[in-house]
Amino acid sequence: MTVYAIIGGTGLTQLEGLTLRQAVELDTPYGAPSAPIQRGDYAGREVLFLARHGHPHRIPPHQVNYRANLWALQQAGAEAVLAVNAVGGIHAAMGTGHFCVPHQLIDYSWGREHSFFAGDLEQVTHIDFSHPYDAGLRERLIAALRAEQCAFSGHGVYGCTQGPRLETVAEIARLERDGCDIVGMTGMPEAALARELDLPYACLALVVNPAAGKSTAIITMAEIELALAQGMGQVKATLARVLVNGSDKL
Ligand code: HPA
Repeated sequence: MTVYAIIGGTGLTQLEGLTLRQAVELDTPYGAPSAPIQRGDYAGREVLFLARHGHPHRIPPHQVNYRANLWALQQAGAEAVLAVNAVGGIHAAMGTGHFCVPHQLIDYSWGREHSFFAGDLEQVTHIDFSHPYDAGLRERLIAALRAEQCAFSGHGVYGCTQGPRLETVAEIARLERDGCDIVGMTGMPEAALARELDLPYACLALVVNPAAGKSTAIITMAEIELALAQGMGQVKATLARVLVNGSDKL
């Protein structure tokens, strides 16, 4: 049976309902992951959980050690990765509380350690990244969101910005012209690193605010936190359903 890893983002530093069997503390050639990996049972099967920003939440998006996180998850036995990301909504359909399972991404982040192929030119592999997310995993997320009767879009383009500040109105207008539907700060290099390790990867994005300029109000942390609190129940139910339904090999 496929061993799933869940990477929890902002608002999901702990997977309530996970019966912990072991907190796996791993060091990697790239340093320490954001937190110990929680190995346990969730929705009746073994799962690995990692808090992307640490637990408690303390590591900002541009300082997450994405390489250590993905490496450690694979070392711990992960065979597929479900990433949970809080995002801002750009497309009109992406209102607060809406879910999106992106099918594409554009990377605007910079200066992050973004590849396992560094230093040793002979070993550089140019991974195919035409389709950054795994089709089978995306389908499972979509089926689970449908079964949970969540408001969602089964495709969308994720724009990954550097953060930790939010964007300007002009930056969001540019992202929109580029075709981005949602904006977040943690989708990359995570997705590409998973591909370098040959780990199927998909993203469950929850819209927690209208992106800059998409409402007349300024964006507050209070608004984001409220949306996260309101959406986390559906996130957990959706993940549980993927695990229950996804017993077959990917
Ligand atoms: N921009 C970037 N990242 C985000 C946002 C946003 O508006 N909301 C949540 N993560």
